[in-house]
Amino acid sequence: MKSSIKFLLNGVPKEVDFKTSAQLYPHMTVMQYLREGLKLTGTKEGCGIGDCGACTVCLAERDENGNTVINSVNSCLILLGMLDNKHLITVEGVAKNGVLHPVQKSLLERRGSQCGFCTPGVVMSAYTHYINNKEFTRESVESVLSGNLCRCTGYESIMEALLALESPSGVGTKVKLPQLNCEELVFTRGSSSYIKPYDLESLLKYKAEFPMYEMVSGASDVSVKRKVEENFDAKIIDISDINELKRVDIQGKNIIIGSNLSIESVKDILSRYYPGVEEYLSAFASLPIRNKASMAGSVYGASAVGDIMPMLLAMGAKMKLSCAGSSRVVDCREFNSGYRKHILQENEIIESFIIPVPGKDRVLFLHKQSKRKDMDISAMTFCIGFKLDKGFIKDVLTGYGGMAPIPRPSPILEQFLTGRLFNEETFTLAKDVVAKDFSTISDMRGSAGYRMMVAKNLLIKCFNEIKRGRDGSGN
Ligand SMILES: Cc1cc2nc3c(=O)[nH]c(=O)nc-3n(C[C@H](O)[C@H](O)[C@H](O)COP(=O)(O)OP(=O)(O)OC[C@H]3O[C@@H](n4cnc5c(N)ncnc54)[C@H](O)[C@@H]3O)c2cc1C
Ligand code: FES
Ligand code: FES
Repeated sequence: MKSSIKFLLNGVPKEVDFKTSAQLYPHMTVMQYLREGLKLTGTKEGCGIGDCGACTVCLAERDENGNTVINSVNSCLILLGMLDNKHLITVEGVAKNGVLHPVQKSLLERRGSQCGFCTPGVVMSAYTHYINNKEFTRESVESVLSGNLCRCTGYESIMEALLALESPSGVGTKVKLPQLNCEELVFTRGSSSYIKPYDLESLLKYKAEFPMYEMVSGASDVSVKRKVEENFDAKIIDISDINELKRVDIQGKNIIIGSNLSIESVKDILSRYYPGVEEYLSAFASLPIRNKASMAGSVYGASAVGDIMPMLLAMGAKMKLSCAGSSRVVDCREFNSGYRKHILQENEIIESFIIPVPGKDRVLFLHKQSKRKDMDISAMTFCIGFKLDKGFIKDVLTGYGGMAPIPRPSPILEQFLTGRLFNEETFTLAKDVVAKDFSTISDMRGSAGYRMMVAKNLLIKCFNEIKRGRDGSGN
């Protein structure tokens, strides 16, 4: 058991011992640590809740297989205790010996900065892409900057500055990491506690002992909640570095995905099996959020408008729920039990998602309806998967978000479509079925009438897209 963490900060080894550093807590955000603890104020504080990107930093760490991965992350969301064994690079560490990094130089020369408030965040997003040796194309820059707001320069000059860059090869692999030390971190001060286990067995033991402690994985929900509630006391189990919860495995006809693998990694893996996932999950929050946020964190929140559960429902996914000494597998359809409620017991965790490998006749349509492409919560979501057998629809699975107090399937629609011919008439008739199944609500994201109209129209969009895809593939 240890009371300290060790990491690299801009290449310099750092040790924070929480027993002796009275001003520092493992549950303070990395942004608070940088700005208030170290007076490294290059990292800016904007919204404090993951929306603006002014606080973006670069984080190098080992993935579940021990490989070094380097990601942009929001320092206003991740917690100081999460830095253990990692290398944090801030905007102060980008220029070397007074010489600007090519990203900074290009932004300067091509007028990619005016007031400069967003610039450190823009630099860190682009720098992370650069040291990962990735190409700067219009499409990749849009994704890289999906979490960075600029309110005065105008995005085009930032875009031009980044498009003018060329990535040299071989730089990313040079980012060092400290020696790995997986001793558990245990911290208590006053009414606050922070426990960081490094393996599943230990986590389940702590969860049994402290069922009321809040687990933190990507911290994108927990940190926003704490900011809104302004509550600095915390009782936290940090599960962000438990490799068993990030592993991916193919077992028989199923893809097993660790519950706390990042959404960005889930996107990459699932889109190999379900091509539509790439576009669908690219609209989830922003790249820095997706680099840390997890599927478990999303379904735990049980939001009616979360993007993950409708997708899982349409894939026919199951979840493995575990506690010390036992596990159970439940269908995702059984997970939500009411508004913001689910069946997870206090001593249980979500260990993994079990997602069927689709057969070659299976099709999947995923659509998130939101006002903006990036960084927007959905008004409603429609996901549907089915098998096409000689022109007939079979084995239909649906997932709707934003149409009811919980994300849920439409069994009536599934029944209606089953056995019918795959043609426009079938999907036109299905509009009335959807209208009967849901009585939607009006809120700031959309009126009930709007939601229902979109839900009906999406049936036709679904038909057209699947037809186009099959015509194009010659099936
Ligand atoms: C700016 C911003 C934009 C967002 N955009 C979107 C969006 O477009 N679409 C969308 O759907 N959501 C969005 N979200 C919501 C949020 O990012 C997701 O819900 C995210 O997936 C939460 O995952 P996390 O790992 O960060 O959760 P955390 O904050 O770490 O944890 C949240 C909760 O989940 C529980 N939990 C985590 N892992 C487990 C586990 N293995 N077993 C049991 N319980 C667990 C924790 O105990 C905690 O109570 C957004 C959030 C922010 C801040
Ligand atoms: S301060 Fe706005 S995203 Fe962190
Ligand atoms: S330069 Fe002013 S907000 Fe971007």
